[in-house]
Amino acid sequence: MIVVFGGNGQLGRELVRAAGERNVPLTALAHANVDIVDGAAVAAAIAHHRPLLVVNAAGYTRVDPAESNIAQAERGNTLGPATVAAACAEASVPLVHISTDYVFDGGKLGAYVETDPVRPLSVYGRTKADGEEAVRSAQPHHVILRTAWLYSEFGENFLKTMLRLAATREELRVVADQHGSPTSARTLAEAILRIAPRLRYEGDAWGTFHFTADGVTTWHGFASRVIAAAAPITGRHPGVMAIATADYPTLARRPSNSCLDCRLFARTFGFSAPHWTLEVDRTARTLAAAAPESLGGARADRVA
Ligand SMILES: NC(=O)c1ccc[n+]([C@@H]2O[C@H](COP(=O)([O-])OP(=O)(O)OC[C@H]3O[C@@H](n4cnc5c(N)ncnc54)[C@H](OP(=O)(O)O)[C@@H]3O)[C@@H](O)[C@H]2O)c1
Repeated sequence: MIVVFGGNGQLGRELVRAAGERNVPLTALAHANVDIVDGAAVAAAIAHHRPLLVVNAAGYTRVDPAESNIAQAERGNTLGPATVAAACAEASVPLVHISTDYVFDGGKLGAYVETDPVRPLSVYGRTKADGEEAVRSAQPHHVILRTAWLYSEFGENFLKTMLRLAATREELRVVADQHGSPTSARTLAEAILRIAPRLRYEGDAWGTFHFTADGVTTWHGFASRVIAAAAPITGRHPGVMAIATADYPTLARRPSNSCLDCRLFARTFGFSAPHWTLEVDRTARTLAAAAPESLGGARADRVA
C-alpha cells in the first residue's frame, strides 16, 4: 500500500490514475482529509493504512501569491514536509517527497546537478528548499524528486491556460527567455510507481534526484507546441509572440535556466522520461477534444 498526501493536486490525481491502471494499492488523501502540518492526523493516517511507502505530493504551489502569503507557503512547503518526514521516521516508512527547479537561481550555464548549491529567488523556492532540508534531517530513508514545469489534464497549469486563451485570442505573448523542461505529472506519477518497489525500508537508493522530461524549451516554445498540437482539433491558430521576462513582470522572480540534469536518476533507477514534446502533444490533443469546461479557470503565469 502506498499513501499519498496532497491527493487532489495534479500529481496526486495522476498517481491515483496510474495506480488504478497498474492495480497498485494506493490511498490518496486530499487536503480536506489530512492537513500535512497536523502531526496527529498524519501519524493516524500512516498507522491506519500501514503503507510501505508514503508520497508527499502536497505543497503550496502558487508561486506569485507566495510572495505575500509567506506563512501559508511555509506551512505547505516546509512545516508540512517536516511533519510528514517525522511521522514516516517514527513509523519506519520511506518517503518520496517532491521538490522543484525553483530552489535554484538559474544562473548556471548548463543543467543543474543534485549537488549544485541551492539559491532560491522566490518565497516559493525558499520554502521548498527548506522543506527538502527538513525531510533530509527527519527521515534518512527518503527520495526527494526535484521536477519542473508540471502540467496535467487535472488542476491548474500553463498548458491548460494556453488552450483556454487560444479559444478567444488572436495573439498570445509568452516569455521566451526562461528555459526548462515541461514535465507531465502523468510521467512523474508513473516514474514514482516504477521506482516504488526499489524503495524498501532496508534499501539503499535514498537521496535527492532530478526528474524531468527530456529536452529543453522556453515557455514560448511550450505554448507554441500546445497551440500547434491542438489546432487540427480546435481550428484555432492564434499567433504566439515571444516576449522577455522584463516585458511581463511578476511578483516572484523565476530562474532563467530551470534545466535539471536527470542522469543520476537514470543511473540509479534504470530509466528516464521521454522527450517533453510527446506528452505535451498527447495532453493538448486530449484536452482539445474534451469539453471546454475541462480547461477550467487556469493560472496565467508567464503569458501576457
Ligand atoms: N506545478 C509545478 O509546475 C511544479 C513544478 C515543480 C515542482 N512541483 C512540486 O510538485 C508537487 C506537486 O505539485 P502539483 O502541481 O501537483 O501541485 P498542486 O496541483 O497545486 O497540488 C498540491 C496539492 O497540495 C495540497 N495542499 C496544499 N497544502 C496542503 C497541506 N498543508 N496539507 C495537505 N495538502 C495540502 C493542495 O490542496 P489545496 O489546493 O486544497 O490547498 C493541492 O491539492 C509539489 O510539491 C510542487 O511544489 C510543482
